[in-house]
Amino acid sequence: MSRHEHQQPASALSENRFTAEQNHNTLSGRARYFASSTRVTWNRKHLLDIQSLSAEEILFVLDTAKTFKAVGERAIKKVPALRGKTVINLFVEPSTRTRISFELAAQRLTADVINFSAEASSLKKGETLKDTARNLEALNADIIIIRHSATGAPHFLSRVVGSSIINAGDGAHEHPTQALLDVFTIREKKGRIEGLNVTILGDILYSRVARSNIWALTKLGAKVTLCGPSTLVPKVFEQLGCRVTYNVQEAIENADIINLLRIQHERQRASMFPGLGEYTALFSLNKARLALTKPDVMIMHPGPINRGVEIDSEIADCGRSVILQQVTNGLAIRMAVLFLVSGGKGPQEISA
Ligand code: CP
Repeated sequence: MSRHEHQQPASALSENRFTAEQNHNTLSGRARYFASSTRVTWNRKHLLDIQSLSAEEILFVLDTAKTFKAVGERAIKKVPALRGKTVINLFVEPSTRTRISFELAAQRLTADVINFSAEASSLKKGETLKDTARNLEALNADIIIIRHSATGAPHFLSRVVGSSIINAGDGAHEHPTQALLDVFTIREKKGRIEGLNVTILGDILYSRVARSNIWALTKLGAKVTLCGPSTLVPKVFEQLGCRVTYNVQEAIENADIINLLRIQHERQRASMFPGLGEYTALFSLNKARLALTKPDVMIMHPGPINRGVEIDSEIADCGRSVILQQVTNGLAIRMAVLFLVSGGKGPQEISA
């Protein structure tokens, strides 16, 4: 896809077919990447989702982020890669990790960064998202990072403004930088992604993190199991190349990674289970369940965590948990994404 070709909004889940042929092609793509990484290039103006990325592109972002992580460990952590560029954080939904790490990433790249506050903006006076974005473009925004409750909002903006658009979470659809930082963390800690058993446990139906992780992990050859209440883990997810089970023990006992998700109350239109107490009793990661897992299982969570609901407080802080390391890696991933959508060529350009 060319830098200026606009990507289309993702289709509904039922239209997301991950066929054996696609999987075969993806694996071939990965093999090609390892055979000749110098031929891989990034030609995208936007980062809208993981679904449309190839395995090679995902690995290219991870390699670029690895170089930026090394930059973050130097005494002088700033590089001039985005000097003179303007980055606007257009967050119309709450965020701690994503917004702050995008802001810090832009600062580390020497961009001018503006944080848009939806509550204090003219959205409150009835201005549309399109008009808001066009006004930001008129102020020479080079990159607009958007978080919005509506699925497809970033894809829509990519068609109506000339700025680069980065999806920081759109409804229950995708959260691409979260998935990229998650697979980065897995590769960093486990040394590989292909062949690992990754269990995603919790509210899958309403989770953009789950969808982006499923795309990234399956493209990179991990074996993904989804588990949670049947109302929140519909069997249709098997069409994305995952295993679905409602038996927690079966889901976690062979897992190399357990990625826990909170209940997305803000997106549920009806009560999907009798109560939080019952959810915790049946699906939370507690000490008894942790004892059933492999000794080297890695515990992940995108945050925000609800201690005592989907995860025991002590487990969230234990040595197997990489929850805060995910946050640290999010900074390097977001530096890499800002750099690449601005026309950066890749890790070799940063090292030079
Ligand atoms: N994981 C994540 O998206 O966290 P925030 O909502 O705090 O950005």
